[in-house]
Amino acid sequence: MSKTYSIAIDGPAGAGKSTIARRLAAELGYYYVDTGAIYRTVAYFLDLWGVSPKDIDGVTRYIDELTVEIEYDEDGKQHMIMNGMDVTDDIRTQEISQKASLVSAHAIVRDMLLDMQRDVAKKHNVVMDGRDIGTVVLPKATVKIFLTADPAVRAKRRCDELNAKGQKADFNKVLQEIQQRDYQDTHREVAPLKMCRDSVKLDTSNLDIDGVVAAMKKIIGEKIPL
Ligand code: DC
Repeated sequence: MSKTYSIAIDGPAGAGKSTIARRLAAELGYYYVDTGAIYRTVAYFLDLWGVSPKDIDGVTRYIDELTVEIEYDEDGKQHMIMNGMDVTDDIRTQEISQKASLVSAHAIVRDMLLDMQRDVAKKHNVVMDGRDIGTVVLPKATVKIFLTADPAVRAKRRCDELNAKGQKADFNKVLQEIQQRDYQDTHREVAPLKMCRDSVKLDTSNLDIDGVVAAMKKIIGEKIPL
């Protein structure tokens, strides 16, 4: 099999990971793997069954009933399939964001999802984003980037995104949710969000999308012929 390249992008909620990763993947002709969507699918499934994401007994009892698959359409868009049903759009709510953060703290959930993430990277060149890609999922990734931004900047971006979709957003509430998720994602015992020694940190607080993409390409270009 020919060599595959993997670009691991980790960082807190709202740092711009998915927007940037999607664009990079399109420009490089790589698969974009949004691993947050996988945890969101688990949270959505448990929510349908009325299981609290904190209830480890409930999670353990129901998780065997769940099959999660990643599919790509002809435009390269990732779709999340839950027990045969496409839930790609259903998992994009603030409520599921919070629940995904809580459910992702359980080792049983993370273990179940590890191989499916690694399998995509074995077969294809990938840009994969999440919280533990450089540390756990792809420790030998070709390039590792830690994307971050000031919490207030991230909250403002999230509000703009919601407004663009015609949804109202309360800045203080969004900021509080972001800070709560940051806390949960960095303080859990299993695979917490942290920067690894061999990743390059990029603070996007004062950069627009083009600026981030240009900076990322510079970092990537040092390891992969572009
Ligand atoms: O990237 P996102 O906002 O869609 O992720 C939702 C939650 O899923 C996030 O708060 C923590 C969890 N997550 C994780 O634990 N590990 C990953 N690799 C990706 C997401």
